[in-house]
Amino acid sequence: MKWHKKHLLGIAELNKQEIELIFDQAKGFKEVLSRPIPKVPALRGTTIAMLFCEPSTRTRSSFELAAKRIGADTMNMSVSSSSFVKGETLKDTVRNIEAMRVESIVIRHSCAGSPHMLAKWCDASIVNAGDGFHEHPTQALLDTFTIKEKLGRVEGLKVSLVGDIAHSRVALSNILALNKLGAKVTLCAPKTLIPPQIEKLGVKVTYDIKDALHKADVVNVLRIQLERQTDAFFPTIREYVQNFGINKTLLKKYAKKNVVIMHPGPINREVELANDVADGEHNVILQQVTNGVAIRMAVLYLLKQE
Ligand code: CP
Repeated sequence: MKWHKKHLLGIAELNKQEIELIFDQAKGFKEVLSRPIPKVPALRGTTIAMLFCEPSTRTRSSFELAAKRIGADTMNMSVSSSSFVKGETLKDTVRNIEAMRVESIVIRHSCAGSPHMLAKWCDASIVNAGDGFHEHPTQALLDTFTIKEKLGRVEGLKVSLVGDIAHSRVALSNILALNKLGAKVTLCAPKTLIPPQIEKLGVKVTYDIKDALHKADVVNVLRIQLERQTDAFFPTIREYVQNFGINKTLLKKYAKKNVVIMHPGPINREVELANDVADGEHNVILQQVTNGVAIRMAVLYLLKQE
């Protein structure tokens, strides 16, 4: 199968074959990353701009490293010291970046749909690094790639997403990717953090953590996004921890012996994830981060093959 897409805007726009093509390419690049010189010149002569209008540790550094590992030049834009603060529009900003002969723009923005708008305005390839509550496609790709690497498949697995589903772009992208790859998805959170009618996406919903853990092959724990919540969605953090926090005792009691625990980061330690799990034997959190570089190398590379 050949790659035909110019942009990566969301998992919604990908089919199963395209996801698997990204995985195959990422597997090859993971081998490159294990070499003494972890670099190939696949995108030499190409320039990729990183436009992060929201904070990021993992995604931004992972995209930058990925671009460098395949030989591209990178240009980092710091929003706080850019002309955004003087009122320049996003459209003007990206068209000026593009005028400097930048071929790809990786964007994180608080407005859902902003990468889709850029794709209409620009000739450059646009990569969505997280848009508001909407999608975070490379996070879902690296999550599902890690599941496949760890358990040998995604199809037929029982995957539970636990946490702030309502405010999470990681949740939507994971639901879409897991559905396309044939996993059975369960969502678990307080009622106030589950979007209405989400079952229409083909997922099961439970408000009981024991249900979410029962027979789950993978539990992907999502961050409580206190910075996005404008209302109180649960009475106290303490109550959330008591009812939905994942700790070792809970896993021992209700989860499979070999359950895989994931978290996209950043972790609210001792809130959604106790230290004994965040640093424990079941988690693949840093493996997710390592795989993120290979996945982003694959995405940046494939988009140039269109
Ligand atoms: N997982 C994730 O998107 O982390 P950052 O916000 O640090 O990029």
